[in-house]
Amino acid sequence: MPQQLTIALSKGRIFEETLPLLAAAGIVPSEAPENSRKLIIPTNHPNIRLVIVRASDVPTYVQYGAADLGIAGKDVLIEHGGEGLCQPLDLNIAQCRMMVAVQKGFDYAHASQAGKRLRVATKYPSIAAEHFAAKGVHVDIIKLYGSMELAPLVGLSDCIVDLVSTGNTLKANNLEAVEHIANISSRLIVNKAALKTKYALLNPIVETFARAVQS
Ligand code: ATP
Ligand code: PRP
Ligand code: MG
Repeated sequence: MPQQLTIALSKGRIFEETLPLLAAAGIVPSEAPENSRKLIIPTNHPNIRLVIVRASDVPTYVQYGAADLGIAGKDVLIEHGGEGLCQPLDLNIAQCRMMVAVQKGFDYAHASQAGKRLRVATKYPSIAAEHFAAKGVHVDIIKLYGSMELAPLVGLSDCIVDLVSTGNTLKANNLEAVEHIANISSRLIVNKAALKTKYALLNPIVETFARAVQS
């Protein structure tokens, strides 16, 4: 029986920005996840299928070999830890920045020096903890799953650690960025075992993606 390849992707921007890369490798999904409730999407290639999972679950599917490869943001990969994964390529898609932001007018410089604990709301507790530990600032991390921008507005936190792209979400909520933590883009991730056992199927895809990214 021919080997099967399973690619894990999340709906939305990652799926949209991955379509041209898949097309360059001759892979065309049979339907778009936005128009379907299906979680396994066949492609024009009989041995290649897509699975649609939450963005933060992509590394887990690839780590355990339920998917052979996937595409995940560096934010998600840092939080996951990267165990069991190869990260051969930065695809330069879904580009944004991990930032600290506060309500406009909040004296962040003073609050982060005053010796009292800073309350930080975020979906990214590891990234936030590491950032403030490196600065020697004591923090209480408040884990959220979305809409971080609300937290300082209702007194849940002093600041947030979140992704910023255009800055429109911060602006719409009267927040401002005060610190840059990291530039973020999405990477190709490959299951370490599959890289060996499915090399013949995987390698042409990795090479085509690499050429498409350079061009
Ligand atoms: P979920 O909805 O499951 O919580 P998510 O919000 O992380 O997941 P997406 O918004 O599709 O899912 O984000 C996927 C990836 O795209 C993120 O991990 C990040 O790397 C990147 N990303 C997130 N927000 C932006 C943005 N505003 N502009 C560009 N890239 C972004
Ligand atoms: C992301 C992120 C910010 C926003 C920043 O949210 O969590 O809220 O983008 O982008 P901007 O600077 O261009 O406004 P997303 O659009 O993914 O919505 P979500 O809450 O559904 O994750
Ligand atoms: Mg999002």
